[in-house]
Amino acid sequence: MNTYTIASIAGDGIGKEVVPAAWRVLKTLERVQGDFELRVTDFPWSCDYYLEHGRMMPEDGLSQLEAFDAVFLGAVGNPSLVPDHISLWGLLINIRRGFEQQINVRPSRQFEGLTSPLANPNQFNLMVVRENSEGEYSEVGGRMYSGEDEIAIQNNVFSKKAVKAAMDYAFQMAEARKGHVTSATKSNGIVFSMPFWDEVFNEVKERYPEIGTKAEHIDALAAAFVTKPEKMDVVVGSNLFGDILTDIGAALMGSIGIAPAANININGKYPSMFEPVHGSAPDIEGQGLANPLGQLWTAQMMLEHLGENKAAQTLMNAIEHVIKDGIVTKDLGGNASTEEVVKAVEEYLTSEI
Ligand code: NAI
Ligand code: MG
Repeated sequence: MNTYTIASIAGDGIGKEVVPAAWRVLKTLERVQGDFELRVTDFPWSCDYYLEHGRMMPEDGLSQLEAFDAVFLGAVGNPSLVPDHISLWGLLINIRRGFEQQINVRPSRQFEGLTSPLANPNQFNLMVVRENSEGEYSEVGGRMYSGEDEIAIQNNVFSKKAVKAAMDYAFQMAEARKGHVTSATKSNGIVFSMPFWDEVFNEVKERYPEIGTKAEHIDALAAAFVTKPEKMDVVVGSNLFGDILTDIGAALMGSIGIAPAANININGKYPSMFEPVHGSAPDIEGQGLANPLGQLWTAQMMLEHLGENKAAQTLMNAIEHVIKDGIVTKDLGGNASTEEVVKAVEEYLTSEI
């Protein structure tokens, strides 16, 4: 029996609905498969926790999480109680940075039975690998003067180590997929960091001669996500470019409520963290409208990361099955509740195995 320890942080808003939903499904999967076990510890860290303790997580929060095999997170944020920059930086970003989760991975694919905003989508199935630790999201820069004279400077930070790490990750992922990596660049307009990015890409690709490559400028690439996403396999981008591309990827699938993400620690020092792309959605909280599929697909990525490939595949089959059957929430054009989707997934799992 393979046993894994998982730190579960439901967080705020619909996180408190979709995380317990995902655990029900995971426990069902565990029971029917019978050869792995996830030992869950729940952490109440959230905006409610902040109101009580004045912090989003305890001071030693990271060391409490450190020994787990993975962190499973719902969503953080309740802007009516706590400003977003406090809640997100105090918990989510704290974990991403503290645990050196250098890579953010987000898939986007077509599902039979789901309406994409694209009029005639061809079967697309792509992965965006986003550098998650530096790039445009740096804390280097400053502001000077005031009034009409005010200026702001924000420096981009690109280190060879981090760029290489993201690219290596993308190439290794492509080896197990369709064998192609697209690099998101802008070396025609951004004259220092992006030519550097291209040089590192050219250096890294030498080591993967069997992988096809293309470097594409971010503007054209953003357009290509919309016009021909089926041409893409793995796409590697900087922090900002990856952020933008993954939102397009999520939109192509039909709803942000389905999109999953993984924050990967590649040096093996700390756990990786798995969280859906969506936030805490206060507008639909407590109404049974939350789509649990994003959290479930996130769980699927976690299982894959842990090496439980059979369970991951079974869970993906279950997700595909309920979508095909039209048992989906309102954001995907259906009328099922969170509970009904979860029940349908559980029914599939118990009947198919
Ligand atoms: P959001 O993703 O929470 O919601 C955007 C829209 O998508 C809303 O209309 C919402 O109802 C809908 N939506 C999101 N997830 C859904 C789901 N699973 N099922 C059905 N509909 C869904 O983004 P928003 O409204 O900008 O932010 C709300 C809060 O979440 C803020 O405090 C924000 O800072 C936080 N946030 C947290 C993230 C995280 O924890 N990783 C990511 C994005 C936002
Ligand atoms: Mg984003």
